[in-house]
Parts: sequence; C-alpha cells; structure tokens
Amino acid sequence: MSIYRKLFGAGITAAAAGVIAVGLTAGVAHGQTMKPCCDDTSVNYSKDLWSALAKAGLAGSAARADTPYKGQAPHGAILETLQSEVAVGDHKGKVIVKRNYGGKGVSVDAVKGDRTKFIKAVTVMYKREAGYDKDNNNWFWAKYKPDGSLFTNPKGMMLAGRVMKGADKGCIACHAAVKDKDYIYGKQN
Ligand code: HEC
Repeated sequence: MSIYRKLFGAGITAAAAGVIAVGLTAGVAHGQTMKPCCDDTSVNYSKDLWSALAKAGLAGSAARADTPYKGQAPHGAILETLQSEVAVGDHKGKVIVKRNYGGKGVSVDAVKGDRTKFIKAVTVMYKREAGYDKDNNNWFWAKYKPDGSLFTNPKGMMLAGRVMKGADKGCIACHAAVKDKDYIYGKQN
C-alpha cells in the first residue's frame, strides 16, 4: 500500500480507529496469541506514563505551552508536539507527546488562547527498554483523552501498548512508513 493511501486514506481519527478494529480482528483470526497491546499490563503502564508526563509538564492541566501548528491527517486540525525524556519506574526513555486540537472555530490562534477548550486527544510515543518490541524500535504507543484516560477502538480495546502490532493499519503500521527515521514523522531534536 502506498504511503499516500496510508496517510490520507484514513482521513480522520474516527476513521483511523475504525480500521484499527479491522486490523485487530485479522490478527486474532490468524491465531495470534501474544497480546500486542491493550491488555491490563499496557493499560496500567499507560497510567504510570501519564503520571510521569504530568509531573514533567508534558500533559494534563499544568502542561507547558509550545507552538501549535496546522496538522495533517489523521491526527487533528491543529497539533502541538513536545519531545523530552521521562522516567517510568527505573527506565528512562525518550518521549514524544502530541496534543491534538479540534472542534468548532479551531485555529492556531484560538488554541493559543484556550488550549483546554480545543484539546481532543494526546497521542504519545514512549521509547521503552530494549526488547519491549524489537521489531518496531521498542515504542510504546498510547492515545489518551485530555484527562489521561485512554481512547478505545470500536471494539472497546484500550489504545495503549504495541498498538496494533502486526496489523496493516493503526499506529505502528502507519508510522512504519517512516521506519528509517525511527518511526517519527516530524522533525527530531
Ligand atoms: C494513518 C497514519 C497514522 C496513524 C494511524 C497514526 N499516526 Fe501518528 N502521525 C502520523 C503523521 C502523518 C504524523 C505527523 C503529524 C504532524 O506533525 O503534522 C504523526 C505524528 C505522531 C506523533 C509525533 C511524532 C511524529 O511521528 O512526528 C506521535 C507521538 C504520534 N503520531 C502517535 C501516534 C499514535 C499513538 C497512534 C495510534 C493511536 C498514531 N500516531 C497513529 C500518522 C499516523
């Protein structure tokens, strides 16, 4: 599948969530036993990660402001991306936090004026310890609501962990188009 179909075929976040569900069903149908994501361990880890992000001023009500910019599908109309390092337990790793803004009247200036009003989701990539997911550069993926709880796909699976590893849609599949840049689309600092 071409990168363009991967990027723009999904269109909007809701549509992307829909295709994630299809991918998962396919994985289960093939007799996959390992849980790639969304299990209790991943959900609990996502809570610890959120606490670390909140403490570091990267998420939550006290999150520090950066520079919002116009985003591209599927993540949202206006985005704000922060890169840092945080510790979860005794592991310290790189983290990329992307705040996704949308809603009626959203614009870069509107977001700067009132982030709380327009925030829709916080998507995170966190570099875990070696061996966590060696096929996909050990990223932990999560899609949070602004209050730190997790988004679910239409099947009710919590979006945290090796999100839809092995499926042909979802976080890992789409970001794999930029595998040679460590799965990161944006600029790295
Ligand atoms: C259909 C393709 C697609 C899917 C699915 C997708 N992303 Fe992305 N993601 C992108 C693109 C394109 C960007 C760059 C957006 C920008 O900054 O304008 C991006 C950016 C990001 C970034 C900022 C780092 C970077 O790569 O620039 C994070 C973090 C992120 N996505 C997390 C996630 C998570 C978590 C999921 C799953 C819940 C997910 N993404 C699903 C395409 C996708």
